[in-house]
Amino acid sequence: MCIYKIEGGIPLQGQVEISCAKNAVLPMIFASLLTTEEVKIKNVPLLSDVQTSLQILQLLGGEYTSGAELCLHNRTLRTSQAPYEAVRSMRASILAMGPLLARMGNVSIALPGGCAIGARPVDLHLKGLTALGADIQLEHGTLQARAKTLHGSQIYLDFPSVGATENIMMAAVLAQGETILNNAAAEPEVEDLANFLCAMGARICGQGSDTIIIEGVNTLHSVQYQPIADRIEAGTFLAAAAACGGDVTLTHINPEHIRAAIAKLTECGAALSETTNSVRIQAAGRPRKIDIKSLPYPGFPTDLQAQFCALASVANGASVIVETVFEQRYNHIAELVRMGADIKIDERTAIINGVEILSGTHVCAPDLRGGAALVIAGLCANGTTELRDEGHLQRGYDHIESKLTQLGAKISLTE
Ligand code: EPZ
Repeated sequence: MCIYKIEGGIPLQGQVEISCAKNAVLPMIFASLLTTEEVKIKNVPLLSDVQTSLQILQLLGGEYTSGAELCLHNRTLRTSQAPYEAVRSMRASILAMGPLLARMGNVSIALPGGCAIGARPVDLHLKGLTALGADIQLEHGTLQARAKTLHGSQIYLDFPSVGATENIMMAAVLAQGETILNNAAAEPEVEDLANFLCAMGARICGQGSDTIIIEGVNTLHSVQYQPIADRIEAGTFLAAAAACGGDVTLTHINPEHIRAAIAKLTECGAALSETTNSVRIQAAGRPRKIDIKSLPYPGFPTDLQAQFCALASVANGASVIVETVFEQRYNHIAELVRMGADIKIDERTAIINGVEILSGTHVCAPDLRGGAALVIAGLCANGTTELRDEGHLQRGYDHIESKLTQLGAKISLTE
């Protein structure tokens, strides 16, 4: 358990560099299983989810050294069994399934459970891997998958699932023949993983669109790669600046990856300007209300929904925010209400009547992005907020308290 102590009411000023994207780095770590050669990933953020992924790799027999760049070496693997404890602590461990099937021809991995934001089924992952030739059985809560060979296939995803797209792509790159993935996820992190795989010798086209074509190859080779910046970290800091006021410049971020968030921040009255790798926000006074519907990319990202609820909590007017991607991603609302927000929930819709100002108090982080929402609320509240967190924020933000301090915020972390 750690506690963030936040003094509210201070505008944010200055510049901060955005870290590499958690949701690009995690699949790349698992993709390193696809080669016996060394894989180097530059500027990997210090996140607990990254540590968990590396522990799983070690349990499988892989090796790594971390420093300025993360060096992964999976020369020989001693098992293709991903243990329950590791999968339970990080759902993204399911991304080991595609690479292990392609590399070893078999994998056993605990069926990930749900989490705070929803049931998080993996049926689309399994549907795609089965189409590639895998035989998958669920035995005592563990997925047992075998495939003598993987062959290309035409696959349609009922929902453009990020994880399913990534898992299927990582299996298909070593399959025999061509795979066409229809209604694929177009998120920048998916596109970045495809580009990473191509740098390893894979043959993929269409990444970043809803149709991805993969031509299987026999082997993949070493790579040295710099992942894209974390658009969710960037959107979090922009929402904080819009809520608190100030003048903040984010560097090492591609504005194209946060186009929806930039549009919504402009609608709420902030002034945004950009270069090819930076975004600046200038905001003063109360934000205007904003209506948002979270959607698969390029729609408004579900991973910024909580943070924009915090922003809307102090906006001038009533905002309507609809969460269409996950079925219960409003765990942060009750805590915002405890800080004085006026919010009603109707199934997947939050009606947020903005108040003049929130009041600092004791709150608990319900999940990763809900925790980020409460940091934003504390930054713009009257008085002091103490945010208790069981490690959610450190899963996805590389020293958020240091970066906010760099922007003039009064926030301290007690571990
Ligand atoms: C990835 O999760 C991200 N995580 C999530 O970020 C993000 O919220 C999500 O994509 C959506 O953008 C990583 O990349 C590690 P999905 P993922 O499969 O792949 C349903 C964060 O805060 N679905 O696109 O699990 C599912 O229930 C995290 O950084 C199925 O029905 O998301 C959900 O409603 C949170 N069957 C929707 O699709 C499946 O087989 C989106 O899930 C798979 C998914």
